[in-house]
Amino acid sequence: MGAIAVTGSASGIGAGIRARLTRDGHRVIGVDLRDAEVVADLATPAGRAAAIAAIERECSGRLDGLVACAGVGPHVADSALIVSLNYFGAQQLLDGLRGALACGAQPAAVAISSNSSTIPNTDSPLVAACLAGDEAEARRLAGSSVGQPVYGGSKLALTRWVRRQAPRPEWAGAGIRLNAVAPGPIQTPLLQGGLDDARYGPAIRGFPIPTGGFGSPADVAAAVAFLLGPEARFCCGSVLFVDGGTDALLRADQF
Ligand code: NAI
Repeated sequence: MGAIAVTGSASGIGAGIRARLTRDGHRVIGVDLRDAEVVADLATPAGRAAAIAAIERECSGRLDGLVACAGVGPHVADSALIVSLNYFGAQQLLDGLRGALACGAQPAAVAISSNSSTIPNTDSPLVAACLAGDEAEARRLAGSSVGQPVYGGSKLALTRWVRRQAPRPEWAGAGIRLNAVAPGPIQTPLLQGGLDDARYGPAIRGFPIPTGGFGSPADVAAAVAFLLGPEARFCCGSVLFVDGGTDALLRADQF
């Protein structure tokens, strides 16, 4: 039982994670634009700094878990917002709260990626700009692109960042386990926004999902609860797909 911060806690997957962790007896410090213990805009450097300071105050400097979940979908009008929130919002919170996590009990962190990070291949200069920490360049590249490759690129960068950082002395060496969950289509307001968009709706509906149907926030929350908990003590830098088998179907041998 511990103090766990969850970003994007007011809706969809984040709200499902909040409900699951609360049910399991944890104290959740929600972070969102509204309806949260910490109200902050994670798309801006000032908002991220304020969120980190507020979370540290809420947990008195000892954080047991962190879930970086807040994000926007490919259909939003401002493509630059996608990289600022989905990559830099997540990465800077994870990095900024490492000190508080190091003081927690059996601390663990989970980043919410997406199976869109690799379907289709979204590697690009935008991914490199994110990983170089160059938000201005990533925003410039995003602004001259359309939503889907920016969305997938932001999630590919986040997943690579997790895999690069997790085994390092600052994370594994400090006793903090860092992992990622990569969901497929999950029925939330974000997915509904994509379904309602003429550019993306047909593609999302046509997505092959071997188990059938869309997932629920509870499906993702179960994976997050596992990765945060003691039974995942040997999981470090893992990317757990929760996507009904789409990644395995489309990329069986890219492993
Ligand atoms: P959602 O739209 O239901 O919830 C997102 C939450 O993030 C909202 O509560 C919103 O207020 C918050 N948020 C938005 N902008 C923010 C900002 N600037 N600062 C702080 N909070 C902000 O979306 P959903 O579907 O729950 O998505 C959560 C995460 O899961 C996202 O990172 C998304 O990319 C990822 N994901 C979602 C999938 C899906 O099919 N729903 C599939 C794969 C990944």
